[in-house]
Amino acid sequence: MQQIYYQNNNQYFTGKLDSFNQLISNCQKCSLSKTRNNFVFGSGNPNAKIIFVGEAPGKHEDLTGSPFAGRSGKILDQNLSLINMTRKDIYICNVLKCRPPNNRDPLPSEVDECEPYLINQLYIIKPKLIVALGRVAACTILKTKEALKNLRNKIYKYGGIDLLVTYHPAALLRNPNLKKNVCDDFNLIYKKYIQ
Ligand code: URA
Repeated sequence: MQQIYYQNNNQYFTGKLDSFNQLISNCQKCSLSKTRNNFVFGSGNPNAKIIFVGEAPGKHEDLTGSPFAGRSGKILDQNLSLINMTRKDIYICNVLKCRPPNNRDPLPSEVDECEPYLINQLYIIKPKLIVALGRVAACTILKTKEALKNLRNKIYKYGGIDLLVTYHPAALLRNPNLKKNVCDDFNLIYKKYIQ
């Protein structure tokens, strides 16, 4: 795992996921803390083998404190059912833990402040696979500007852990033709990491 420091402490938090949430949920490192209703840490199985990572909380997530609580969450649930999984089997979180106003893209400075939390979540959960959902999550994590369609179907490493990229569930709401590609991506996940 690459060395990313948790809150300038030069070390990872190595306790339980819930305790880590409690430790950081009052974060004031960037200005999103002033506009958020809830810090959206993540949810799901703390022993998951697969972790799905989205971009940032939207309106519903900010109001409920849970990731993928709105319409794109329903699509994500449908995609999980393609591989006989539910949210109880996986872990879900976002690159940013707080909602950017009007759902604008995360700023590089916000990513710099928040990414160590994601790295520390991965350090605690130790999944076999990270699935980046959508262009913003994928490009932020992989530090690239490549188009999403070119990022699919390849295995990357993030902090020593395998990472695959697929479309954001909201992209399926806008363009149902992407469903075939998403099915292919989930089949790949199934064959390589579940079967
Ligand atoms: N979109 C995201 O990227 N994350 C969420 O939690 C909800 C919508």
